[in-house]
Amino acid sequence: MDNLSRRKALSLGVALGLAGATIPARAWASTGSATGAAAGTGPEWIWDAAADPLMASMLDGGHVPAINSAWASWVNNNDPLPGGVPAEFAAYLRQVNVLPTWADPVKLARAADFNRRRDTYLFMLYGLGSGIMSTVIPREARSVYWSAGGANMQDRAAKTFTFGYDLSQLGAFEPTGQFVVTANKTRVVHAAVRHLLPQSPHWKAVTDETTPISAADILVTFHSLGTYVHRKLLDWKIPFPSADQEAFLHSWQVAVHLLGVPDEHIPQTWAAAEQQSAQVLTPILTPTTEGIALAEDLLGLTAQVDLGVTRGFLNEFVRYVLSDEVGNWLGLTRDYASAALIRTAWPAYILFREGLSPVMPGTFYVFDQFIRALAMLFLNKGSSGTTTPITIPTANRAA
Ligand code: HEM
Repeated sequence: MDNLSRRKALSLGVALGLAGATIPARAWASTGSATGAAAGTGPEWIWDAAADPLMASMLDGGHVPAINSAWASWVNNNDPLPGGVPAEFAAYLRQVNVLPTWADPVKLARAADFNRRRDTYLFMLYGLGSGIMSTVIPREARSVYWSAGGANMQDRAAKTFTFGYDLSQLGAFEPTGQFVVTANKTRVVHAAVRHLLPQSPHWKAVTDETTPISAADILVTFHSLGTYVHRKLLDWKIPFPSADQEAFLHSWQVAVHLLGVPDEHIPQTWAAAEQQSAQVLTPILTPTTEGIALAEDLLGLTAQVDLGVTRGFLNEFVRYVLSDEVGNWLGLTRDYASAALIRTAWPAYILFREGLSPVMPGTFYVFDQFIRALAMLFLNKGSSGTTTPITIPTANRAA
């Protein structure tokens, strides 16, 4: 794709052209549902002007099954756009299937290398940390539960994890990578969900929004993924040079852009991301009936493989990475012996693994098997392990 190669040639200076954008966190987050909301102008009031009307018309016109089959073979960033789809849909894809002008190929390459070097921690944190956190983000839990995919939550959850996986692939943003396509498919799925869920009596009975998945909601989810993982890696004292931190942020900024969030609302620095996260994510975390069911299904995923640990250990690990408060909300049964082990042995495991201590903890192999098995679990669930078979829903969950 010559567009992609042209973008690869973009200089750092062009990439930094974004630096003038303002950080909007305070504008919409200071009171939880916010100044921006009160004015009707913040990201809580932004959905997706390009994709939403298009997908409403594709769904109403009955074109979605054809699009789903046409785009099954559209996988790599440099694959030709799917043929045999309505002209408006093809025109939309042509318009959005590009990296933003500010995407910095050097940072994206560094992010990919960082993701490779850190993949085991990333799988664990995205899978157990962000994955379970998503179940205590009420809007996300309710919309995921009541959309079509909610009826098979294990499958749906696994597909969502593979978003992180595709993002983490070496060359994810290169012409031969897959992330630009995965993100564009996800954007289209979200647009379809915005048309479908408001037709669900179940969703309408529990929601506080008229239309789901606003730009603000997407930023909340970004914080539960990128911002959270960044913070945990620092908390765990895993060596994280600032160039890696910047690259990791940059890859998420591009991802959030590709999901349709306007650039001016994307945090520019980790400090800004942390500030926004403290305002828009932390205060809204709370259990819901849907989220509790979703969490149980997610943790049940692990019964399909031998993680080398008990369910009690798993529950305690979730408590360790998220908090006892979240563990209590989700009714995760206590296993105090595992809790004590994790508290002392996990930091020792990291120190040894990172070459920061010569002492190999006796429990090294327990943790080692655990994180490797978790990584395998998420990889295996991602179909071939190399791509996310994302399909656009045509209906909601029935009941
Ligand atoms: C679908 C990722 C934000 C609700 C998906 C899919 C992915 C994804 C990869 C496709 C999975 C599949 O094929 O089933 C993300 C990422 C986000 C984000 C990376 C932000 C960084 C949100 C938010 C909400 C949401 C904020 C709701 C508040 C949904 C729903 C579906 C979906 C309901 C459709 C599931 C179905 O097929 O029924 N998302 N998402 N997502 N997402 Fe998101």
